[in-house]
Amino acid sequence: MQTPSKEYLDQLEQQLASLPVKEALALLAEQFPGQVTFSSSFSFEDQVISHDILSNALPVSVFTLDTGRLFSETYSVWSSTNQRYQTHIKAYYPDAGALEAFVLETGPNSFYESVENRKSCCGIRKVEPLKRALAGNAVWVTGLRAEHSPVRKDLQLLEWDEANRLLKFHPLLHWSTEAVRAYIDQHNIPYNPLHDRGFVSIGCAPCTRAIRPGEDFRAGRWWWEDSSRKECGLHEKQHSITNDQPVIR
Ligand code: ADX
Ligand code: SF4
Repeated sequence: MQTPSKEYLDQLEQQLASLPVKEALALLAEQFPGQVTFSSSFSFEDQVISHDILSNALPVSVFTLDTGRLFSETYSVWSSTNQRYQTHIKAYYPDAGALEAFVLETGPNSFYESVENRKSCCGIRKVEPLKRALAGNAVWVTGLRAEHSPVRKDLQLLEWDEANRLLKFHPLLHWSTEAVRAYIDQHNIPYNPLHDRGFVSIGCAPCTRAIRPGEDFRAGRWWWEDSSRKECGLHEKQHSITNDQPVIR
């Protein structure tokens, strides 16, 4: 997709912000037919978005990145979601050759040994499959929330993602944890039982642990790494668009 103007982006963002999630997604689907896709990790925020898409049959595709190292609870909630909404959520898998070579060279749990290995593992198991999943789309919908981390606090509801050259929409950006939980309860939406056991942010099993009360939301992700920016590369820093950029729309 061509880089949109800041004016266009601001206007669309304002429109989306004024709508309930379901209607905002419907508007994007209407403006970009067949080019809106949602990435689900089956976290409870993602289950809210899936519910809105699948129970309203919105023309938004839903996919997941199966890293091969997810919790068994995550596979269970994926199955119950398929059943509940009579759907087949599409999974993207790591390139078999790249993964075989990486594990052969570094071993199965090398992400504990160095940040470099950890980033390579995330690159092979998540980031490269993501590129394939996003190809041909104009809008990528995510379950990112501002409460997750200081970096995520600075996100916009609608952003230009320069790395993937598409619009990125975070419909639950300003939702609180309580609001997410209330929505899940209200609609009896299947959710990952790990959320009831101290897991807030849920990724791959060997790289996620429960957090204690008062700990940072993302303290349970890659906890052995001494870093304030615990991101796996799925959500790289966005480029902001200035008024000096060429107007496309
Ligand atoms: S991560 O970058 O640290 O792994 P996080 O678990 O917080 O991300 O999830 C944030 C959003 O990224 C989710 O709401 C979802 O849109 C997307 N995401 C993360 N992991 C996956 C996955 N395995 N499959 C699909 N989407 C994912
Ligand atoms: Fe590999 Fe851990 Fe990243 Fe999953 S979160 S892809 S297991 S390093």
